[in-house]
Amino acid sequence: MSFPKNFLWGGDISATQIEGAWDEDGKSPVETDYAVGVTRNDGIRYSWYRLPDGTEGKAHIMSGHLPKGARFIMKDGLHYPNHTAADFYHHYQEDIGLLAEMGFKALNITVSWARIYPNGVSGGVNPKGVEFYRNVLLECRKHHIEPIVTFYKYDMPAFYIDQLGGWSNRKLIDEFVTFCKLCLKEYKGLAKYWNTFNEINVPFLMCLRDDASQEDIQLTYEELHNQLVASARVVKLAHEIDPENKVGCMCCGIFAYPATCDPKDFLLMQRTAQKCFYSCSDVFVRGYYPAYALRIMEEQGVKLEISEADKADLMAGKVDYMAFSYYSSNTVTTHTQGEQTAGNMMAGGKNPYLEASAWGWQIDPTGLKRALHELYDRYQIPLLIIENGLGAEDTLETDGSVHDPYRIEYMSKHIAAMKEAVEEGVDLFGYTMWACIDLVSASTGELRKRYGFIYVDADDEGGGTFKRYKKDSFGWYKKVIATNGEEL
Ligand code: BG6
Repeated sequence: MSFPKNFLWGGDISATQIEGAWDEDGKSPVETDYAVGVTRNDGIRYSWYRLPDGTEGKAHIMSGHLPKGARFIMKDGLHYPNHTAADFYHHYQEDIGLLAEMGFKALNITVSWARIYPNGVSGGVNPKGVEFYRNVLLECRKHHIEPIVTFYKYDMPAFYIDQLGGWSNRKLIDEFVTFCKLCLKEYKGLAKYWNTFNEINVPFLMCLRDDASQEDIQLTYEELHNQLVASARVVKLAHEIDPENKVGCMCCGIFAYPATCDPKDFLLMQRTAQKCFYSCSDVFVRGYYPAYALRIMEEQGVKLEISEADKADLMAGKVDYMAFSYYSSNTVTTHTQGEQTAGNMMAGGKNPYLEASAWGWQIDPTGLKRALHELYDRYQIPLLIIENGLGAEDTLETDGSVHDPYRIEYMSKHIAAMKEAVEEGVDLFGYTMWACIDLVSASTGELRKRYGFIYVDADDEGGGTFKRYKKDSFGWYKKVIATNGEEL
């Protein structure tokens, strides 16, 4: 009993990180279009904003909100990597063709809200945006690639932050549901797997930052609640529009170990998981906030209004499958913290048993097996791994080859761990690795932090031909897919 016959082998891309064409064909800017790039481990990406009195300031990327009255601004002389990204907007046919050559069974794309509704619902639908994603989906279908469509991924239209103040405004729920409804109707039959939110739990991690104020924490919980309600309403709608639809929501896989065998460290680990992960996934899988989530809010001084209508929506919109991302793990302890290390979205304690990537993310394939068991034991619904991969600096040789044995090693170990979990009974129906084509890093905005099987000739200074090259991992993954994961 190894990987099921129809296992969805594939990869992920995301609109703001790959498309470029940031202001083309009617698209309005998204939050990341205002964000500059930083260099490896050099803090968090930020965007500039201006207050009505002319004062300028910097906002951390992905915070999703600005100080009252502030507007994002772009400054002359700065490079904005998401503006051109990997120029998928003009290369999608070539790119999907290359993925098909690898034998891809699935491709997780995200639809940019700002391409479809550049100025909110009342501003009207942008036909060119609708057409673009239809073409992308048709291209996938042409190559027998199953599209997985994610509606929201770190690309909040700036319009909504400027005009409505972001997700804390409940009006966003209706706006989002209308946007998703349009996509579900327009693309009915072209896609059957849909994800409402990417890494919906990430805002929680913001609450853990030392500089998070009580106001930030309150706002974050309000924003998250509105997203969870919006997600549930979209799940229900998707089922009504097409009973064939399968809908999930996705959590960022933050998994820690206790740094010592002190029982208190175990409890801390458990609590961290509840706080950062399960208080989201329990809601979208089970349809209600568990008791511990309400207690954590109370302890944090958060007052959240959960109306009867919201409760009914959450219960009526439970997902069909649970999706999660997984890159690395870290440790937590109640004792004196040892050396810290970076990780996806969250730093944590270093683990002496693990190696780390050049960006300090600890490499832990066994942790993936643990996550698969833990999630399947807990939920007993099908699982989907969306995002797992290695960010590294690759070298394009003069003959056009790119040798990336480190990526092959990372992925083969993770797939082997995944295989063990499947053989032990976990119901996993797909693996879409991040990111099959080189694109802009979310945390740093760098292009030199590459994840793909396909090398894109673009650099951090805005130069490059955007020509595509196959890395060694391209041929390797092709074989993995052809043998259904038997040859790693
Ligand atoms: C995931 C995000 O958490 O991590 C992606 O969903 C992101 O958007 C990926 O790109 C890798 O992180 P980074 O910062 O290396 O791009």
